[in-house]
Amino acid sequence: MAEIKKIGVFTSGGDAPGMNACIRAVVRTAIYMGKEVVGIQQGYQGMIDKKFVPMDARSVRNIIQMGGTVLKTARCMDFRTPEGRAFAYKNLKEEGIDALVPIGGDGTFTGAEFLSREFDIPVVCVPGTIDNDLYGSDYTLGYDTATNTVIDAIDKIRDTAASHDRLFFVEVMGRDSGCIALHAGIAGGAEAILLPEKETAIDELIEKLEQSAEKKTSSIVIIAEGDKNGGAYNVAKRVKEKFNFYDIKVTILGHLQRGGSPSSFDRVLGGRLGYAAVKSLLAGENRKMVGLRNNKVELTDLHEAIHNHTFKLEEDLLEMANILSI
Ligand code: F6P
Repeated sequence: MAEIKKIGVFTSGGDAPGMNACIRAVVRTAIYMGKEVVGIQQGYQGMIDKKFVPMDARSVRNIIQMGGTVLKTARCMDFRTPEGRAFAYKNLKEEGIDALVPIGGDGTFTGAEFLSREFDIPVVCVPGTIDNDLYGSDYTLGYDTATNTVIDAIDKIRDTAASHDRLFFVEVMGRDSGCIALHAGIAGGAEAILLPEKETAIDELIEKLEQSAEKKTSSIVIIAEGDKNGGAYNVAKRVKEKFNFYDIKVTILGHLQRGGSPSSFDRVLGGRLGYAAVKSLLAGENRKMVGLRNNKVELTDLHEAIHNHTFKLEEDLLEMANILSI
């Protein structure tokens, strides 16, 4: 394999807190190792539109504490075509970029795998998504911060729910993954948690709410956006038809879950994974994802990370959540 001289780093797909800490780590590690670094703005779209910015150690100062991504991000349709990828590769070559560190989720990884197979450019990816749904890493960048943001919101909703004796349905993000919902539901003391990985019949939910209404004056139910019952508004409507013990309200937390200053966990994770991604590339690795398993940084084959991608429901935690909410 040819010697790597210039590394391109970019973020793609949904932004996640901790991405900036990771960009900083990639840039500084590469420079320390005597390499040049280029930031590619707006992910794959920026490769096509030639949005290349030379980076030095000082260009990533003061970003470790920032949410979002200073390199910006996008979801790019053109890159899904062979012509789009060929054009992007031509631009990378003209810029002298000979290896890539993509930071993002499974869509980002899929693009990176295509590019690397079609044009033989080495890639080592970093898992960055609040959804925590990538195979090969116990945690993805942004998940910890997003879950803490949700817990903060649940605590606030609980204040008003208790004051008015109300039942709240709170919908959280995660796409097809119930990881945020499950963990925030447990940490926020939710009465019930509805997840995409486990179907909950509305009648079953009503039965649970009826039982708890005998003891509690307010309740909170967490619903993952990917739950098969069709989201918080639908669930609330169907519950209301048969259950009128409480006044019922719905809160969709939406994109506020993606923002905010990263937690210490996400900053350290961003540092560890960015550092490891550059070292792995320079050690000759290709088509890999760096992840954290049992608190150790490990490499996973990119293909596996993409195709096994899913949050594996911890059934015992769901059972525990049910018991602890009696
Ligand atoms: O993948 C991160 C995520 O925030 C998901 O939880 C959510 O379903 C999706 O992105 C929303 O995407 P967009 O910001 O493009 O609407």
